[in-house]
Amino acid sequence: MLLVATQTIAAAGGPVNYDPDTHVFTLSSAQVTYAFGVNERGELQSLYWGGHRAPDDTLPAARPDTGSASFDPSTGSTPQEYAAWGSALYTEPALKVSFPDGNRDLVLHYLSHTLNGSHLSVLLKDISRDVRVELRYDIDPDSGILARSARIENHTGKPLVVQQAAAATWNLPAGSDYVLHSLSGRWAGEWQLDHRPVLPSQTVLESRRGSTGEQNNPWFALTSGGANEDTGPVWFGALAWSGSWRITVEPDIWHRVRVTGGYNPFDFSYRLAPGESLETPTFFAGYTPGGLGEASRLLHRFELGHVLPQAPHPRPRPVLYNSWEATQFNVNEAGQMKLAEIAAGIGVERFVMDDGWFGARDSDHAGLGDWVVNPRKFPHGLQPLIAKVHALGMDFGLWVEPEMVNPDSDLYRKHPDWVLNFPGRPRTEGRNQLVLNLARQDVRDHIFHVLDDLLTQNDIAFFKWDYNRNWSEPGWPEQKPQDQQKVYVSYVQNLYWILQHLRERHPKLEIESCSGGGGRVDLGIMRFTDEVWPSDNTDPFDRLSIQDGFTYPYTPGVMMAWVTDSPNWVNQRSTSLEYRFLSSMQGALGIGADLSRWNQQDLQTAKRLVDGYKGIRMTVQQGLLYRLISPRDGSEYSATQSVSTDGRQAVVFGFLHSSSMLNPYPRIHLQGLDPKGRYRLRVLAGKPGEDTPEEASGAHWMSEGLQLMLKGDFQAAAVVLERVAQ
Ligand code: DGJ
Repeated sequence: MLLVATQTIAAAGGPVNYDPDTHVFTLSSAQVTYAFGVNERGELQSLYWGGHRAPDDTLPAARPDTGSASFDPSTGSTPQEYAAWGSALYTEPALKVSFPDGNRDLVLHYLSHTLNGSHLSVLLKDISRDVRVELRYDIDPDSGILARSARIENHTGKPLVVQQAAAATWNLPAGSDYVLHSLSGRWAGEWQLDHRPVLPSQTVLESRRGSTGEQNNPWFALTSGGANEDTGPVWFGALAWSGSWRITVEPDIWHRVRVTGGYNPFDFSYRLAPGESLETPTFFAGYTPGGLGEASRLLHRFELGHVLPQAPHPRPRPVLYNSWEATQFNVNEAGQMKLAEIAAGIGVERFVMDDGWFGARDSDHAGLGDWVVNPRKFPHGLQPLIAKVHALGMDFGLWVEPEMVNPDSDLYRKHPDWVLNFPGRPRTEGRNQLVLNLARQDVRDHIFHVLDDLLTQNDIAFFKWDYNRNWSEPGWPEQKPQDQQKVYVSYVQNLYWILQHLRERHPKLEIESCSGGGGRVDLGIMRFTDEVWPSDNTDPFDRLSIQDGFTYPYTPGVMMAWVTDSPNWVNQRSTSLEYRFLSSMQGALGIGADLSRWNQQDLQTAKRLVDGYKGIRMTVQQGLLYRLISPRDGSEYSATQSVSTDGRQAVVFGFLHSSSMLNPYPRIHLQGLDPKGRYRLRVLAGKPGEDTPEEASGAHWMSEGLQLMLKGDFQAAAVVLERVAQ
């Protein structure tokens, strides 16, 4: 093995280290160590990922596996950081390529590395052809969350085709009792949490839809040793990509679990001309011995501190009003002004006009693509409405769905070639619309300019950016046939480009990612969007489990939750206004009801709860979340608690589905308080038990617990504990 040209700019004992004697790389935070080394064949071999190892607990050099009989040679069974398909590899490869001479064998060996602070880059090269892969590693010293990505470079002098490219493979220690936790769903039923044992076969989480999708979310958690919400080892990860993606989970012959994730290889190929390269998305992953709850808290802190566009100090989400469920497409100046007046009266801070304001958009059959204010509905443009909203003390937001077009639109009549399509084949519609091919530079530039003009001509603080269907017939006929599948990469890169450049040109702009609900929520889009819409299902009871699932990977600080009308349109379920508010107050509070039908008492209740929410929102949105009683265990109850990062405030929400058998509401044992601190109880809604002290120690609230008096159907309570100065 040849070790060449290494450059090291790191203090020994820093977050990233390289031991030249053993050729072992170590990335560490206070809680986590991740290590791999170069073995005698030159492969980059995974060594360790788990709790922090003391600096003097050195790891031995990487030694290849012995393999197993003649069926599993060592080259395939040795766990590698980024194994290409070649030699005798039977597990999921991170990379698969084909060369013009028919060769498809690729074997990557270490070439060199550079090390800088918390960043490590390792260069691999094929054993005979000049295909190089740069692996990038970063570790967040606070959370121990690692970021990995790869760049595949073609220096062979001839074209080659990348058929499969992952961001990373994560290798876990051997174990036979791993459980995989993942999220699945569908429209109006997103964020369902699944658990399944890891068996000796491959489990695939994926989207083939061109975008993230509701059916699986690109997040995984693997537990072992019976780990649960509160304790036990968890390895978890989230892929930052908003296009088709795939994560495979599979144990190898020795029960070591490998997780490989990146571009979905289904219908994928990416031709690299000589000198060209392909960047993969970033795959983030972490480890904690503290159970699934702690895994979520680490991710939440990481997102708030490092991912979101306003990180490390995202602005708390304003209380928002959205007109969709009130008016659908029937928007007009007078109606919106009336809603704005009522919204301002109950303390709303941002007024958002939803679909229907542009082109011939009186239904979902026409107008998409024509981003011109409808003169019948807004004879003087948007200015009078925006001025009114501002005069009422709110900022103004607008719904857009820039990536789509109705065939019945001026844009489509002018540019029928701008959509994804295979010439001569049908163009399948979803909600009467087609997908514009953002991979084309002219389409990208058109969308950018239309939105840029809208923002330049109007004082708009917020876009709700919708995306209401998935891809079909994903052809890009203007490209050579062998380059058409680049659409899976170029489309998403151009989407990110538009979002980034709009934000640069309009620094006050905030954006919500919505895809008919929670169809495009991932750490890729969250670098450009301040909040996301988890689901079109706004029933407050269904929302409890939707929101619970959402918080496994994502912070409640981005989770929009509207209070809407009762009975709810989804299931005709009737619930009290207070119950609806409390359900929504677990995330970023919004109101999506027809306020013109609310009576004085409703408006007073709303005002009281909006005021109350403003006093707790930093804790709910950016604090530490404890999922105390899960709404998905089939029980009658659920409860959450959030603790502010400074430890001065805790907020508890309790929900009762339906009392039965005279069961009392269970005592809620709080978490995350200072046992010696004193906390004073304040009731936001509902009633605590009669014997509940007004003030007690953290130890009391955690060990004795808190009794909420909830009886009946769809009842809720919320209390605040404020730390008393001592
Ligand atoms: C789907 C979204 O999820 C809804 O909230 C609403 O904006 C509609 N689209 C508008 O067409």
